Amino acid sequence: MNTTVAIIGAGQMGSGIAQTVAAHGMDVLLADVSLDVAEKAHAGIDKALGKLVGKGKIEIADAEATLGRIVPIGDYAPMSDAGLIIEAATEKEEIKKAIFQKVGDMLAADAIMASNTSSIPITRMANYAPDPARFIGLHFFNPVPVMKLIEVIPGLATAQMTTDRTTAFAESLGKEVVLSQDEPGFVVNRILLPMINEAIFVLGQSTADIEDIDKGCRLGLNHPMGPLQLADFVGLDTCLDIIMVLYKTTRDAKYRPAPLLVKYVEAGWLGRKTGRGFYDYSNGEPVPTR
Ligand code: 3HC
Repeated sequence: MNTTVAIIGAGQMGSGIAQTVAAHGMDVLLADVSLDVAEKAHAGIDKALGKLVGKGKIEIADAEATLGRIVPIGDYAPMSDAGLIIEAATEKEEIKKAIFQKVGDMLAADAIMASNTSSIPITRMANYAPDPARFIGLHFFNPVPVMKLIEVIPGLATAQMTTDRTTAFAESLGKEVVLSQDEPGFVVNRILLPMINEAIFVLGQSTADIEDIDKGCRLGLNHPMGPLQLADFVGLDTCLDIIMVLYKTTRDAKYRPAPLLVKYVEAGWLGRKTGRGFYDYSNGEPVPTR
């Protein structure tokens, strides 16, 4: 397989995937809605690598080499050279569908197309790809360079060869793989999102304030972040998108979104990326908002 990896979607996840893949010696093509957005993401990766150099985690030469392997691109044509195309765009099926259909023309004969979807069924999305046998879920966790897990999710039509090659790729990034069947939310988000949603119900019912809900889970469960801080970190819009996929696909009322989550998303309070969610990030450190 060609070692060039193309990544579509240069947000939090796509940038983290690009950094990780390039740090493991592979060439990366990074695309978003425009060259400008991809270039801004490239600058963001430069900054993230700079922080690691500053902390003495990596050498300057390695940071430069990693950055040099990531090429921002403005159209999909160069992706015909990629052995693997990873879609890491917004968690909306229509957006992903349009990407798969557009990039389908570029997919090399033996290349694999993967989606970093957090919850949308792989079997269904495989229909938007030129070859469902070479389509698979490849779910990274945020922050990608740090988190040790990748979920690999074959759809109904995914060939065993595709699963094997994708698993080998994930392991080549130094990650551990969990193989999940194509069920809503896969393994981790199926467990995580109801917990985050429930924490927001707890907040909405004034059982405890933001600080104490998070403190409870940090100290009582040994989680590195409480569920509300984690929701801000993931993005409240993404949390709502995932819980809605669980709710709509299972039609099980236990996945109904907390009204406060819906309100926050409607207000544009999406968490860290907008400077405000359950916490205010305007001064750098998270400050609880209520
Ligand atoms: N690149 C490389 N390294 C990074 C990094 C990045 N972008 N961001 C952080 N790090 C490294 C730091 O260098 C540091 O390394 P060190 O321990 O060797 O010094 C380490 O990560 C910890 O970073 P910080 O000291 O800055 O901060 P914290 O100790 O507070 O840890 C955290 C931050 C790793 C984010 C930790 O709070 C954590 O693990 N939180 C939970 C994250 C989580 O649950 N993620 C999953 C979300 S769900 C998901 O992604 C699925 C999706 O579908 C919704």
